[in-house]
Amino acid sequence: MTRDDALALDADDPLRSLREQFSLPAGVIYLDGNSLGVLPKATPARVQQVVQQEWGESLIRSWNTAGWITLPQRVGDKIAALVGAGPGELVVADSTSVNLYKVLSAALAIAETDAPAKRVILSERSNFPTDLYIAEGLAAERGYELVLTDEPEQIEPLLAEGNVAVLMLTHVNYRTGRMHDMGALTQRAHAAGALMLWDLAHSAGAVPVNLKGNGPEAEAADFAVGCGYKYLNGGPGAPAFVWVHPRLADRFWQPLSGWMGHAAPFEFTSQYRPAPGIARYLCGTPPVISMAALECGVDTVLAAEAIPGQGLAGLRRKSLALTRLFIELVESRCAGHGLTLVSPREDAHRGSQVCFAHDTAGYPIMQALIARGVIGDFRAPDILRFGFTPLYTRFVDVWDAVEHLKQVLDSGEWREARFNQRAAVT
Ligand SMILES: Cc1ncc(COP(=O)(O)O)c(C=O)c1O
Repeated sequence: MTRDDALALDADDPLRSLREQFSLPAGVIYLDGNSLGVLPKATPARVQQVVQQEWGESLIRSWNTAGWITLPQRVGDKIAALVGAGPGELVVADSTSVNLYKVLSAALAIAETDAPAKRVILSERSNFPTDLYIAEGLAAERGYELVLTDEPEQIEPLLAEGNVAVLMLTHVNYRTGRMHDMGALTQRAHAAGALMLWDLAHSAGAVPVNLKGNGPEAEAADFAVGCGYKYLNGGPGAPAFVWVHPRLADRFWQPLSGWMGHAAPFEFTSQYRPAPGIARYLCGTPPVISMAALECGVDTVLAAEAIPGQGLAGLRRKSLALTRLFIELVESRCAGHGLTLVSPREDAHRGSQVCFAHDTAGYPIMQALIARGVIGDFRAPDILRFGFTPLYTRFVDVWDAVEHLKQVLDSGEWREARFNQRAAVT
């Protein structure tokens, strides 16, 4: 593969026009959309409109006239279309961590009623820390045991032991990019009498997700949460989303029973009466400006649907081609420099990111790359993480990024002192 070959792949790419939707800074190859998506061109104007017209001129009337009050549902329906959920089943609210607290509490409350003898929350040690911390807190509060696997192969035998109340997994692992088989694991959890909770932080907008499955009802998951600021391009700290299968949504008051989740918030009654369905998973007043920005981001993903034969399936095809090329080029052009692939080689098991471990110099190598305008990130203790957002990443970006990596490694420039000082955010 030469640079010209990469340029030819871009010229043939049916999704190439989608990059036009983004404000990408000149001279930057951005491989961190799995952490913070790129700014869509539509966002500044939309935010300005919300601030100057809807807020500045219409003031409080905008809750009705500009549809602020239904933003959590409106943006939620758009995200639902990306994760295999139906309209009216998913809302945008709070952060992923807070939504995890709500759905794990609901799952435990349901398990307590339906299967009181099951006392285990099962997850993976490699899950994102916030998921584990929320589970640790709830397990202690509710008298459950949090059991963590070290290998995905341990999940099934542990389920078979019969005491798992909730299986809580992240679909695409934040550190390795390994992707679980959602339908198969959901089915196994259900066969073992456990509820299935998915964190879609690294999936929504990047890989096709089918929460409700196509086959047997047992393949339909029970709960899901996900981030707005990664592949959904909602901006820093964008609100998150929460989905509960309609068969369960009405079964439990989620613990943060705030007024926005009330059946009739503007009746101002003194007693809580939960809204039917997913609306009860709202808590307080929605952050309107952030939600408007998130809607612009979600629209950039939905734009793939407008290209015949593309949509999320097309994005997935391109994402796999990008990550495959990156692996192939790093392994062939940067051999002998101590980089070890930690992401799965098999397409079916890989999300939209590629990670390499380096025993001693992962952090400074990444800093040297960033200084050259190739932006990925570092995850302790030893991981160089590269995210590939198919909406705006080109094949030539992959080629150029590997050329920079090769130069950083060949020259040893990462040894410079300035690349070895740890910043707060890595
Ligand atoms: C899998 C996963 N879950 C949750 C989060 C973050 O949640 P929050 O938005 O609450 O910070 C992240 C952040 O990177 C993540 O990777």
